[in-house]
Amino acid sequence: MCGVVGYIGKSYCRDYIIQGLSRLEYRGYDSSGIACIEPKDKKLVFLKSEGRLQNLIEKFNDFPINGFAGIGHTRWSTHGIVSQQNAHPQFDCQKTISIVHNGIIENHNDLRLKLESAGHIFNSTTDTEVIAHFLEDLLVLHKALMPALISLIKCLEGAYAFACLLQDFSDQIIVVRKRSPLCIGVGQDEMFIASDLLAFSGRTNKVLFLPDESFAIITKDLIQLFDFNGNALPIDIKEVITDSTLSQMGAYESYMLKEIYEQKSVINKCVTSFKASNIWDNLGVTPEFIKNLDTINLIACGTSWHAAKIAQFFFEKICLIPTRVFLASEFRYMPFFPETKSLYLAISQSGETADTLEALALVKSMGCASAVITNVASSSMVRQADGFLLTHAGPEIAVASTKSFTAQLTALYWLCNKMALEKSIITQKEMIASEEDLRLAAEILENCIENYKIKIITDLAIKYASYKHFIFLGRHISYPFALEAALKLKEISYIFSQCYAAGELKHGPIALIDSQTPVILFSCFDSVIYQKLVSNAQEVKSRNGHLIVFAFEGQTELIKLADTVFVIPQINPLLAPIAMTGLMQFFVYQIAKVLGRPIDRPRNLAKSVTVE
Ligand code: G6P
Repeated sequence: MCGVVGYIGKSYCRDYIIQGLSRLEYRGYDSSGIACIEPKDKKLVFLKSEGRLQNLIEKFNDFPINGFAGIGHTRWSTHGIVSQQNAHPQFDCQKTISIVHNGIIENHNDLRLKLESAGHIFNSTTDTEVIAHFLEDLLVLHKALMPALISLIKCLEGAYAFACLLQDFSDQIIVVRKRSPLCIGVGQDEMFIASDLLAFSGRTNKVLFLPDESFAIITKDLIQLFDFNGNALPIDIKEVITDSTLSQMGAYESYMLKEIYEQKSVINKCVTSFKASNIWDNLGVTPEFIKNLDTINLIACGTSWHAAKIAQFFFEKICLIPTRVFLASEFRYMPFFPETKSLYLAISQSGETADTLEALALVKSMGCASAVITNVASSSMVRQADGFLLTHAGPEIAVASTKSFTAQLTALYWLCNKMALEKSIITQKEMIASEEDLRLAAEILENCIENYKIKIITDLAIKYASYKHFIFLGRHISYPFALEAALKLKEISYIFSQCYAAGELKHGPIALIDSQTPVILFSCFDSVIYQKLVSNAQEVKSRNGHLIVFAFEGQTELIKLADTVFVIPQINPLLAPIAMTGLMQFFVYQIAKVLGRPIDRPRNLAKSVTVE
């Protein structure tokens, strides 16, 4: 994972590097570092720090390094513990070659052994350090940069992107990309390098997305691009629209809280923009293809996978299309039976998650129709898939997904209705009604937070923050929603949260029920499922369990059984997860707040998981 940035040009690099790193902290934030060429003596200097970027910034007071060329890094450790030694940049023996890297060099062990036996002394346990030492050797061998780079790249296995700054070539930065994303922002006599264009948003809107398996030699006013054999490649600079309001928290105490409250407007914005879109063209399919669809395959990770699991109910109930949902990390290693009358739909907030990206590549290589639902128009998945549907959630900065989840559900629900319309399963009138239902769900989502806000803050969050374990239960469409709720609680509060399909309770998990393990049960607005959930709630209560229930108005029996209850207005049963989302997120948010957790940047996590 990790965030890589770089700058070369007419200005000092530090401002951009720090700004870029702070915007890329979503990719990891356990340590950071910078290297640059001192303008006076052209020496390579560096500074690294364990922990948050702020620690590095504070070090500049004593070591105010700066230069016209520099690279920076924010780390999510894969190889080696969190420490200053393992922070990037990593160096060769002479400390004249610096590397910042995202991804994994899979053959690093072999390379390290060879380099160590050739006399190289390593200072870290990272895979990254081998790149610097290896390049050191190859420069001696080839006596020129270009052949050394080609030999280096040909020996590195894995998926990676790195930037390299060398003291002996101080007016250029080298970048290399194999599968992991990297782009270059082109300015006036300056170039910005980043894992994600978010880093230089507001500085330039001209971007070169490095093609897969390519490398570039960059000076302040020139990019030379090559494939891995050293053949020159054309430079395709794109103009992108970037959002300058991207990282403002406004009056909110955290990004997560801001993003919870943005959901109502995000849902409305999504509906408006989907209505105006040319959906089948955007998805890269024809209306005939949609009419003849036999199956849908949804592929995702994390919260996006939960959205997909919920959407399975949409597609099967409304569209009558058998739908399968895959974890991208599993899909890739299972037997693949290509289906021609199927849409393979990846769902990813970032559009960069390595497993989902690789699953998409597999689908494409098998000649199947692929599309992605994503929040990032400039993402790798948009470039990879045949088509895409943009979720319009706006930049999501907090690591735990909130508004991107509801935006995905909105997109999936709307898309499903549009398919049903195309297949003549529903009428145009029903299509319009489905859009109105989405807007109603958005309204309920926000009203529910307001209704329970004071009680949660002054009472419930304090009470429940003292518990060490929670069990989450759901059934039918509320089961994947319960999975998402349990994920949210563990991500931001670090409280152990286990989720089960409510019907499974009696098959083992019921042994865990006691007064010290609250059970959070999410109801369904469906009379048959509801009755089953009432029975599950009774099973909990008759074993002295503590029951927190998210129920719908009129579900009296369930409401009476609860020790704590949140009552939600009645709604189209398929949209219950959207209606409940705000309240669920607000509740777990306030628990994490009572515990004093760093909610926007929880320990060990990263927002965009670009390693497999
Ligand atoms: C990480 C994030 C999750 C996210 C998952 C999938 O694990 O911490 O919040 O749901 O990646 O990310 P994607 O960008 O593909 O939706």
